[in-house]
Amino acid sequence: MGAIGVFDSGFGGLSILKHLQKELPKYDFIYLGDNARTPYGSRSFDTIYEYTRQCVFQLFEMGCPLVVLACNTASAKALRTIQQVDLPKKYPNHRVLGIIRPIAEESQSFSANQILGLLATKGTISSKSYDIEVSKHSPKVALYSQACPMWVPLVENNAWKTPGGLFFLKEDVNKLIQQNPKINTILLACTHYPHLKKELSKYFPKINFIEQGPIVAIKLKDYLIRHPEISHKLSQMSALRFYSTENPDNLNLQTQFFHTSPPSFTHIHLLEINN
Ligand code: DGL
Repeated sequence: MGAIGVFDSGFGGLSILKHLQKELPKYDFIYLGDNARTPYGSRSFDTIYEYTRQCVFQLFEMGCPLVVLACNTASAKALRTIQQVDLPKKYPNHRVLGIIRPIAEESQSFSANQILGLLATKGTISSKSYDIEVSKHSPKVALYSQACPMWVPLVENNAWKTPGGLFFLKEDVNKLIQQNPKINTILLACTHYPHLKKELSKYFPKINFIEQGPIVAIKLKDYLIRHPEISHKLSQMSALRFYSTENPDNLNLQTQFFHTSPPSFTHIHLLEINN
């Protein structure tokens, strides 16, 4: 019996974890943030895959039978290879889930006109993962994307309300809307963006901004019902543990941005992987 592992490149995944806890309050969770190497957003495929794989294996070795990649960039760039290459070879009875497919499966319910805007990191957009998954699971949806390379640093530095910060927020949303002026629904496909939702709604009151956490949580609950062979391996004592690859003394970000009760992190040294 083990906890559900929740992985993110840093603190962002806490914004997903809080919804998982809400939907699955009895389950145990172990959160691992790769703060020492964050952000992943602009890194190459190879680097994101290696980093993500190492953290997923770490969570497996900590007893998690199931790991959720609560990071869009990792889900976009590493999930498929981990599922198709690494799991069969090394951990055939473990499972890794991402946060793109659950969103893609629900995409056709987001907007009546079936036109959907997407904002995410450069890595997520360039991977085309959302385009592939949405066309597979919600084929009627026309998807328009825009990368927002400045948004994660703006959140992490608490600078999105400054004139410079607002410039980038407005510019990226406007670039997206210019692609199709009928866009009235925009998916915030990055763990950091829900923190900007209020501000975004102020400047774009006619747009419905959708966050991922609540949707991912409902879909995970559904997955556990459909997969008793996995849910039976999960412990349910409402325990919660937080680990980071960075020394907690150096973690200065206000985690209350992401999680209601600021967690206390334990420093972890990742295991070396022998291919
Ligand atoms: N967690 C990442 C995501 O959802 C954002 C932060 C990063 O770039 O590492 O894409």
